Amino acid sequence: MARYRTIDQAEVKGRRVLVRADLNVPMKDGRVADATRIVRFAPTVKDLAAKGARVVVLSHFDRPKGKRVPSMSLSPIGPELAKATGLHVAFADDCIGDVATTAVGGLKDGQVLLLENLRYHNGEQANDTGFIKQLAALGDVYVNDAFSAAHRAHASTEGLAHVLPAFAGRQMEAELGALSAALDSPKHPVMAIVGGSKISTKIDVLTNLLGKVQVLAIGGAMANTFLHAQGISVGKSLCESGLAETAKDILAKAVVANCEIVLPHDAVIADGLKPGVSTALCNVSDIPADQMMLDIGPASVATLKQRLAGCKTLLWNGPVGAFETPPFDQGTLELARTAAHLTAEHRLVSVAGGGDTVAALNAAGVGDKLTYVSTAGGAFLEWLEGKELPGVKALSRG
Ligand code: 3PG
Repeated sequence: MARYRTIDQAEVKGRRVLVRADLNVPMKDGRVADATRIVRFAPTVKDLAAKGARVVVLSHFDRPKGKRVPSMSLSPIGPELAKATGLHVAFADDCIGDVATTAVGGLKDGQVLLLENLRYHNGEQANDTGFIKQLAALGDVYVNDAFSAAHRAHASTEGLAHVLPAFAGRQMEAELGALSAALDSPKHPVMAIVGGSKISTKIDVLTNLLGKVQVLAIGGAMANTFLHAQGISVGKSLCESGLAETAKDILAKAVVANCEIVLPHDAVIADGLKPGVSTALCNVSDIPADQMMLDIGPASVATLKQRLAGCKTLLWNGPVGAFETPPFDQGTLELARTAAHLTAEHRLVSVAGGGDTVAALNAAGVGDKLTYVSTAGGAFLEWLEGKELPGVKALSRG
């Protein structure tokens, strides 16, 4: 694993510390709907403030494409960060220029300032040298605590690490430690559960995992494409039939890699994805032409639970059914509870990530019962693909 310095090695007292967070959190009616990322970021801010740093928090929010979009302001996040840290959090209406310079200049040791959305400026996503310079002028030290944005080579996630002394924050450390323990040096056997609707978005994930895990369970609508590739008719289920050859290729590679691919063998079916629709169970080879598979059936759940009980590490990304529409959440919920139970008994190291997966774990009441749940979406996927994340690479030394 790459080596990087943490804030334990940083001299921060009396210095201006630019801390990159990922405060891109779900909002509803102008309020924070899920504060997980803010809560996970709080220890870094508290640590730095306690050491007498002048903490300057940088983040993007949504995708304003270089313009000031009022609904994408970070201003509603300040009070939430204050709540999570127990510290006063000041806010500056811009992340560069006079407004930012004056606000940073007014900070005393141990105080915290949140700057406005970085993506109000095109230079952020362009990783523009001039923009990096403007940001760097506001700080003496750089801390990256945004693993979930580390797949972006942007000014604040990558560029700054080359011009200021760079350190990993607490959350970055925790993410890298947990994810590396699960994929780079796991306890064997390792099982991965990969769900979601489209195989097209997860081909690289599946291909990378083949060489790393002993059991690869495929669920969600993605599984339909694999069943279709095996000549099984999946009715009107979501299916990327154009990717049948890709699915076949993955199945063939799994044989060579000695990786067992587990596909659903029974299905919960209905004539459409709507709440309260009448459902039935059938074998996957008996899905009627006018029905769709919307969850894995109880026999498939039992198979996965049995495989899970025989493994020591679990990596999970993506629900195995259309979990946002009950009753098609049952397979995912039961697997989540099983993973939590095995983890509590110290029989399993369980690591999950991705927005839908986290929502499913929370719905099952086990969001805090796995060994580690990543707050990352795209970054978690790219890491599962085996890619080096630019934000992590930039922190690495030697
Ligand atoms: C995320 O929510 O996954 C990160 O904040 C990255 O956001 P982005 O996809 O807009 O770069």
